[in-house]
Amino acid sequence: MSRPGGGYGFAFADREGRKLAVSSDVATHGDAADSPDRPRKISHCVLNAADMEGSIAVFAEGLGFTVIDRTGHLCFLCCGSDHHSIALGHGDAPTLHHIAFEMADLDSVMRGAGRMRDAGYPIEWGVGRHGPGANVFSYFLGPDDYIIEYTSEVEQVDDSYPQRSAEYWANLNPPGWTDRWGVSGPPSERMKAAQTRIAFA
Ligand SMILES: [Fe+2]
Repeated sequence: MSRPGGGYGFAFADREGRKLAVSSDVATHGDAADSPDRPRKISHCVLNAADMEGSIAVFAEGLGFTVIDRTGHLCFLCCGSDHHSIALGHGDAPTLHHIAFEMADLDSVMRGAGRMRDAGYPIEWGVGRHGPGANVFSYFLGPDDYIIEYTSEVEQVDDSYPQRSAEYWANLNPPGWTDRWGVSGPPSERMKAAQTRIAFA
């Protein structure tokens, strides 16, 4: 493909009009070594869907993802050993919720958060540990209010993973908690406003 990094692939518009690209054999960047306060790769994306079941079908039936867990609001889709690489949330329109970047470990999530704060991007939600996927998280608003998540320790899964019910996830934490540790408050109002702002053309 005529994109930075090369490789080959194809692109298509899904049922809700999102333009998706599937690519392979993209070149590895020259300085891909882990750094204590920088992401190593994109971990997952969360997309809001007006047609939830139709969007799930695109990823599950069209692209071969596996539905690994569902909560009352989210459907988590897996395409490898990470618990999820795509998640879909109920929404009024096809919009971007957030993009998550994988950090090397928990310490890197914290050091990356410090680097972001120094750069003028305070934590909007976190630091905490999610229910589905069990990953550590810290959220920021980037340029144009894109929601960025720094994450690590995403649960590694295989065919033996026991998919849990929405009820299980709803009752995992005590009432009022927004993460497994109980240390994170709720997302900021700025983040709540941003999580449906980026529309897919
Ligand atoms: Fe996430």
